[in-house]
Order: sequence, then structure tokens, then C-alpha cells
Amino acid sequence: MTLFANPVNHTCAFTKRVRNMKMMMNVLLISLVVVISAIDEDRKVFIAYMGFLPEGEYSPSLHHYEILKNVTNPRFARKSLIRSYQRSFNGFAAYLSQEEQQKLAGLDGVISVFPCQKLRLQTTRSWDFMGLPTTTERSVTGESDTIIGVIDGGIWPESESFSGEGIGPIPGRWRGQCQGGTNFTCNRKIIGARYYGIADSVRDIHGHGTHVASIIAGSQVNNASYYGVAQGIARGGVPSARLAVYKVCEPDCELRDILKAFDDAISDGVDIISISIGHDSPLELTHDPIAIGAFHAMHRGILTVAAAGNEGPRLYSVSSYAPWIFSVAASNTNRKIVTKVLVGDGTVLMGTSINGFPSSNDELPLLYGKEVTSGGCSEAEARHCHERCLDRSLIQQKVVLCDANNNTDLVKAAGAFGCIVPNHGNNFSDVGPLPTADLDTNDINFVKTYHNSTTKPRVKIFKSEDINNQVAPLVASFSSRGPSISISDIIKPDVTAPGVEILAAYSPMASPSQVFIDKSSVKYNILSGTSMACPHVVGAAAFVKSFHPDWSPSAIKSALMTTAWEMNPNQSLGAEFAYGSGHIDPHKATDPGLVYDTSKEDYHKIWCNIPQRINATCNANLTLTQLNYPSMAVQVDVISPFVVSFPRTVTNVGKANSSYVASIKGGAKLHIVVDPNNLQFTALNQKKSFVVTVRGEGIKSPLTIESASLLWTSDNYKVRSPIVVYTRNTTSTGGAPASQSPRLCKNFVVLFVSIIITHCIYIVQQL
Ligand SMILES: *[C@@H]1O[C@H](CO)[C@@H](O)[C@H](O)[C@H]1NC(C)=O
Ligand SMILES: *[C@@H]1O[C@H](CO)[C@@H](O)[C@H](O)[C@H]1NC(C)=O
Ligand SMILES: *[C@@H]1O[C@H](CO)[C@@H](O)[C@H](O)[C@H]1NC(C)=O
Ligand SMILES: *[C@@H]1O[C@H](CO)[C@@H](O)[C@H](O)[C@H]1NC(C)=O
Ligand SMILES: *[C@@H]1O[C@H](CO)[C@@H](O)[C@H](O)[C@H]1NC(C)=O
Ligand SMILES: *[C@@H]1O[C@H](CO)[C@@H](O)[C@H](O)[C@H]1NC(C)=O
Ligand SMILES: *[C@@H]1O[C@H](CO)[C@@H](O)[C@H](O)[C@H]1NC(C)=O
Ligand SMILES: *[C@@H]1O[C@H](CO)[C@@H](O)[C@H](O)[C@H]1NC(C)=O
Ligand SMILES: *[C@@H]1O[C@H](CO)[C@@H](O)[C@H](O)[C@H]1NC(C)=O
Ligand SMILES: *[C@@H]1O[C@H](CO)[C@@H](O)[C@H](O)[C@H]1NC(C)=O
Ligand SMILES: *[C@@H]1O[C@H](CO)[C@@H](O)[C@H](O)[C@H]1NC(C)=O
Repeated sequence: MTLFANPVNHTCAFTKRVRNMKMMMNVLLISLVVVISAIDEDRKVFIAYMGFLPEGEYSPSLHHYEILKNVTNPRFARKSLIRSYQRSFNGFAAYLSQEEQQKLAGLDGVISVFPCQKLRLQTTRSWDFMGLPTTTERSVTGESDTIIGVIDGGIWPESESFSGEGIGPIPGRWRGQCQGGTNFTCNRKIIGARYYGIADSVRDIHGHGTHVASIIAGSQVNNASYYGVAQGIARGGVPSARLAVYKVCEPDCELRDILKAFDDAISDGVDIISISIGHDSPLELTHDPIAIGAFHAMHRGILTVAAAGNEGPRLYSVSSYAPWIFSVAASNTNRKIVTKVLVGDGTVLMGTSINGFPSSNDELPLLYGKEVTSGGCSEAEARHCHERCLDRSLIQQKVVLCDANNNTDLVKAAGAFGCIVPNHGNNFSDVGPLPTADLDTNDINFVKTYHNSTTKPRVKIFKSEDINNQVAPLVASFSSRGPSISISDIIKPDVTAPGVEILAAYSPMASPSQVFIDKSSVKYNILSGTSMACPHVVGAAAFVKSFHPDWSPSAIKSALMTTAWEMNPNQSLGAEFAYGSGHIDPHKATDPGLVYDTSKEDYHKIWCNIPQRINATCNANLTLTQLNYPSMAVQVDVISPFVVSFPRTVTNVGKANSSYVASIKGGAKLHIVVDPNNLQFTALNQKKSFVVTVRGEGIKSPLTIESASLLWTSDNYKVRSPIVVYTRNTTSTGGAPASQSPRLCKNFVVLFVSIIITHCIYIVQQL
């Protein structure tokens, strides 16, 4: 079925690689799809979203079939229905022509109809870094009663990180199943498994899903490492929690499968949903299965945590922006992995890359790409170590210097020992298929000059080592930034968490460097991305929940936001739009003092002010600034004076008798008043309301961010909320995002095709 997806809409799946096996598979599929869909009258897969399930007797699949009979050729109706969503919300996926799709969208009860597309996928000292050492006091019963739904690329069930040993019986309220497919068994750790798409089991063949799941709930595994690099104890945030795995990414992360996974997970009874998948460019709310699924999850008391995306540091790039989603940015930790290079003249340079290969015994000859070309290439291509430029006979056991960092697999395939490449401003290290040192511009130029200055240039590349990072946490440049194009008056992402150079479990079937040529197999691997940050927040949320099983999703989110470490806006492009409320502190979040509880009714009151309504009715009129959210943001016009009020209500979850005083920090250009500015509580769960009013004379330039924060302080607690006023990007019209941005996505596909096909040819020639 997957084959019928339209290649134009076949877009954009959050990892930072291009040339991996999965992509290669996609391309082969795309070529087939082009042929097949031409025959099939241009029918494509569309998803119809129909809101809540009606109460009382109702057969969703029958209703969906009836609807299809009306909009399409009745004889074709049954064949065209691909899947009904009927467990947690209402809707279906079907093959439709453009005309049928429009007819369907006009029907009563149909909230949105959107094309099915493909999304992208986006350890373990990190837990120590944020204050959860192995000695942390835990609620083991609370943890083992917490079930986490992981919507991702599957899991490697035999990994030591998922041994169910020492965990008690499965919680009785669990309604899910172990439908893991071929050769897949569950245990007391992995209690649920389902797969969608063309997969035949929940087994992870790409590594991403296994990595994410082990960051959340991996058992403690001593002496884990990637070939000795980043050696230590690997463990998840909640080692006793349960996992329910929903595999949606084979061969691609399809919207229709993601929506089905939400439908199942909500109904199965998970407590928290983790989703490190997203679209490169933000989707409209009503076209985004993650926003829709998370909305229904929120309705059932389930928190959804999602990766912000890897499209930073560009502003407006955050892809998970719905207010009911907990959106996560990625930052570094105090551990940094470096690869040293000894240059022949005795200089030692520091590279960003992960090299698990042993250091070479000697210095090896260094050759520049342009010296090792077999001819038939331009000089620029040769310098970039472009495919087919490399002359195998010249580079065996040598180190090659290239002007591009995206051809290291070709250099390996051609038989070189190692390579030296520019890091193009990438601040994080990743695993290469051969000994590689990624150097910054100054160091690359140094090596070039050295190479020029001697007749027998030589270098030695060392095995990677981890060093202490002085400046952490800093938001990674790849981490997507807010604000949201669609919903301007909210800070997104909500928080940041470790997502740089994380060691966690991996699928032994997947290539650690995620390139085809690399056939090595590892149990633990080091990856970076908001995909790795998201599961840290999931683990932290589960940790908080294990102490407070009765807290609502928004109370847990509020606790993690108001206790987060404050970050310096001068150090991250986009300030709060890079890191939200700051870096999570799971331990502090178990005892936050006050929470901003946003009820599901509150979310329903914002529909009248949102261009894309997931629930069609709108009976109250709350603006986003009035939503009881733990952070505050407003977009204002350039130059114009402004006055904005943020009414808020806090619930006392700290000490029964307590007294809080408000104070404001920062925001030199803002006049901020809190009324009342002190709150007296006499009981637990008591609520108190206040209003924050922000005035300004007008901010002169577009896209200027003014940051401040509100702090409620008592004898025992500090409860902090960031306040952001930012000016409109005057050249932008605002409002709804460019729908789907097919142009962008199409380019993306073309790009993948061209790279990968040429690359396949190359591999075939080489092997
Ligand atoms: C919208 O939400 C309200 C309140 O929860 C519910 O009664 C109504 O049925 C919903 N409308 C749709 C179209 O789902
Ligand atoms: C199909 O169309 C008929 C006639 O227009 C209408 O009576 C019926 O309610 C429609 N059924 C559905 C499920 O929309
Ligand atoms: C099941 O998968 C595991 C892991 O790949 C493998 O070791 C084992 O041989 C497989 N068993 C069968 C019956 O295929
Ligand atoms: C720990 O792992 C490393 C690398 O895999 C290995 O060399 C070493 O022997 C292991 N140490 C222990 C105590 O198992
Ligand atoms: C590889 O890197 C070079 C140099 O940065 C760049 O010009 C080229 O577009 C990149 N190729 C691909 C396919 O990303
Ligand atoms: C290397 O030497 C050549 C010829 O002497 C010169 O053109 C080139 O600019 C030099 N390159 C560097 C990086 O110094
Ligand atoms: C990236 O590197 C630059 C230069 O070394 C440094 O100024 C910046 O703070 C680094 N950013 C991160 C996120 O590490
Ligand atoms: C950020 O920079 C501004 C202007 O240089 C300075 O006034 C402010 O104190 C800095 N903030 C922090 C937290 O360092
Ligand atoms: C909600 O308020 C906005 C402005 O505050 C107004 O434009 C809109 O018409 C109101 N909608 C309803 C349904 O009351
Ligand atoms: C809170 O303070 C009031 C008066 O100060 C006192 O009567 C009450 O017992 C106190 N409650 C608790 C739980 O300490
Ligand atoms: C501002 O909006 C324009 C037009 O939409 C866009 O081209 C530009 O990139 C935006 N600037 C930023 C910083 O996002």
C-alpha cells in the first residue's frame, strides 16, 4: 500500500543524516511509485479527520464506508478505504482523487482532509548532568506503574537495556497487546508492541527507536560504550518504567500510521507518549497527526512529548508548536567528545567527530583530495572528494583531506585509512565510517598550509576521547527555534534537554554511522538530535509522575517548566525561542511548589482564536495570552506602544500554609506589573489567580525579542515563568503557514534522489 503514496508528497522524514540505508530504500520505492501512481488515475492517500468519536452506538468503519460511497464511485469505496481511526478519535485514510477529496472536505462532521505524507525521525551521563545520579531516591512502585508509549522506528528487544529482570508484574489496567510480529517477544519491560506500514515486526532495523526507548526507560547497564568511547553506565530516566512500542517508520514515517499509533496508544492505556518524529516545515494543526493525536491524548490525561525538530538555528522552524504538546529543544552536556589530530609539525588539533577506531600507530601520509583524483573530475569536485574522483591506488592506508564532510563513506569505500574534513560549523561530533577528524575553518586552513609546506605531509588521527565541556548547557545550532508561524503568542519549544552526543542502546542491524558502506554492528551508539532530547523529557516527566500519579499532563509539564535551569539569552540565537523555560531539572520538578494547571476545557476555549480548529466548535473566547500556560509570550507590532495582560491561576502543590511574593527580572524595555503581587495559601490544591500586565513604548525593529521573567518566591520554592515580547517579522504576513509547503518538500525529495542514486551506483561499482 505504501507504494501508492504520491512521490511529490513523499517528503521529509529528525535525524541529521542524508545517506542512510532507509533513504536508499525510499528512493528505490519512489522510482516504482512514479510508475504505479501514473496508472492509478492520480489517486492519493488522504486522511479525513472527524474529531471526537460520537457517543452511543456507532460503527466508525461502516460510517466511513458510507461516506466514501457518497464521495467516490460506490464500487470503489471498499477498496479505497485503507484504515479507520476508531479507538480514540474519529477519522479514516483512503485513496481519493483531488475532486473526491474536495467533496469529502465539504461534508458535515469532517474537520479536515489532508494528504498523507511521510515524516522524519528526529546518553547516558546526561542524567547525572541534570541531577539524577544512580543514587537518586526513586519511587520504584510509581515508576513500574508508568507506561510509556514510544511512537518511533521499533525496538531491539534483546538489548540488555530492555531486560525485564527485577521489574514486577504488568499493571492490571494495561489494555494493550504484544503484537510484535515475527520473532518478537515482549517481557516485563516491553509490555506492548504494534507495527504499521510494510514492516513484519516491531524489530528496529535503523537504531533510532532503540536509542530513544533506552534513553527513556533503559535498565542500568554497566560499562556501556561505543568501542570504548563515552564509556560508563547506560541507563534511562526511569529504569523501572514500562514501554509500549508503536513502530511507524518502515519504510517511512507515514502520517496515516502515526495517527493510527496514537489511536491505539491512547486506547491501550499509556501514560505518556514520546514522539521524536516530525515534519521539516511546520504543518497546520488540522493536517498534523501529531497535533491531532496529542490533542486526544491530552483529553484522556496523557502527556505527549515531542521533538522540536532539527531545522535550527532558523527562527520559525519549530515543528511541534501545539499548546497541548510538550515541545523539546536539544542542548549539550558537560561531556564533549573530541578527536585529536597530530600534525607532522607537532601541532595537535581538536576535531569534532566520533572515532571508535584505534589510533594509528604511526603518522600516515596526508593527501589532499585534488592530488588523488583519477581524472575526469573538476578540481572543485576532486577537492570535495566527490564520488569517482578518488583513485583507489593512490589512497590505500593514507589519510585524505577533503573540502566537504559529506563524502566520508566514499573515501572509506575507496580504501583510505582516514580523512580530515571541515565541520562546516557543526558543533557536535558524530560517528564516521572510518577514522575521521572534522576540523573548524581555522584548523582546516592550518592543515592545508602545513600540507603545502612540506613534501611528505603526515598526520595521525587518534581514537576519540571525552573531555569536560566548560560551557553547558548551550542549545545546539541544529535545534529548531520558535516562534510558531501559526500560533504567535506562545513560547515554543517549551524546554531544552540533552540531545548532543548521547550514548544509548542501538540496533545491531543498523549501521552506527548510518551509511551503507559501514557494516559494523554495535549495541550502543552515540547520536545527536532533538530526537534524543525528547526522550530525556519523557523520562523526566515519568520520573515526576512516579511521585505524583494523580497529576494532570499540564501539571507535570508546568513542574518541569517552572523549575528549569535559567539559560542566558545572550548565548543562544533566538533566546527563549531556542530553549523555552530553560533546561529541565527532573529532581526539582518533583516538588515545584506551584503549578499552572491547564484544563482540557481551557484548551477548548482557544479555538475561536486559532485559524485551524481541531475541534470545530468554539463557544468561548480565550486568546493564547489568556491560556493558563506556564510561560508568557506575545507578538506586537513594530514601533507601536502595547499593553498586554496575562491572567494566570496557580495551584498550591507545595506546603499547605505558604506565602509567595512576585518579582520581575530583566526586560529593560518592558514595564511589568503583577496584581496581586503576593499570594497566601492555607491549603494544598488551593488555587489563586493573578494578572501580569506588560506595557511598552514600542520596539523599534522587527523580530526583536525582549526577555523577562516572573518569579514567585516562598520560603521553600522559586517558581519561574519566562515572559517574552517580540516584534512581528514585518515582511511576513503572519497567519496560517504556507500550506504543506510542497515546494520545499519536493526539492527535498529530489535532493535525496540525486544523492542516493548516484551513491548506489558508486557502491555497486566499488563492491
Ligand atoms: C468539541 O468539543 C466539545 C467539548 O468537549 C464537544 O462537546 C464537541 O462535540 C466537540 N466537537 C467536535 C466537532 O468534535
Ligand atoms: C450520502 O448521501 C445521501 C444523499 O445525498 C445522504 O442522504 C446521506 O446522508 C449521505 N451519507 C453520508 C454517510 O454522508
Ligand atoms: C530472532 O532474532 C534474534 C535477534 O536477531 C536472533 O538472534 C534469533 O536467531 C532469531 N530467531 C529466529 C527463530 O529467527
Ligand atoms: C568495559 O568495556 C571495554 C570496552 O568494551 C572493555 O575493554 C573492558 O574490558 C570492559 N570492562 C569491564 C570491567 O568489563
Ligand atoms: C556536500 O558538501 C559540499 C561542501 O559543503 C556541498 O557543496 C554539497 O552541496 C554537499 N552535497 C550534498 C549532496 O549535500
Ligand atoms: C599551496 O601552494 C600553492 C602553490 O604554491 C598555492 O597556490 C596555494 O595557495 C597554497 N595553498 C595554501 C592553502 O596555502
Ligand atoms: C559552537 O562553537 C563556537 C565556537 O567554538 C562556540 O562559540 C559556541 O558557543 C558553540 N556552540 C555550542 C552550542 O556548543
Ligand atoms: C546579555 O547582554 C546584555 C547586553 O550586552 C547585558 O546587558 C545582559 O546583562 C546580558 N545578560 C546576561 C544574562 O548575561
Ligand atoms: C473573540 O474575540 C475576538 C477579539 O477579542 C473577536 O474578534 C472575535 O469575534 C471573538 N469571537 C467570538 C466567537 O466571540
Ligand atoms: C495554617 O495556618 C493557620 C493559621 O496560621 C493554622 O490555623 C493552620 O492549622 C495551619 N495549617 C497547617 C496545615 O499547618
Ligand atoms: C521574515 O519574513 C520573510 C517573508 O515571509 C522571510 O523571507 C524572512 O526569512 C523572514 N525573516 C526571518 C528572520 O524569519
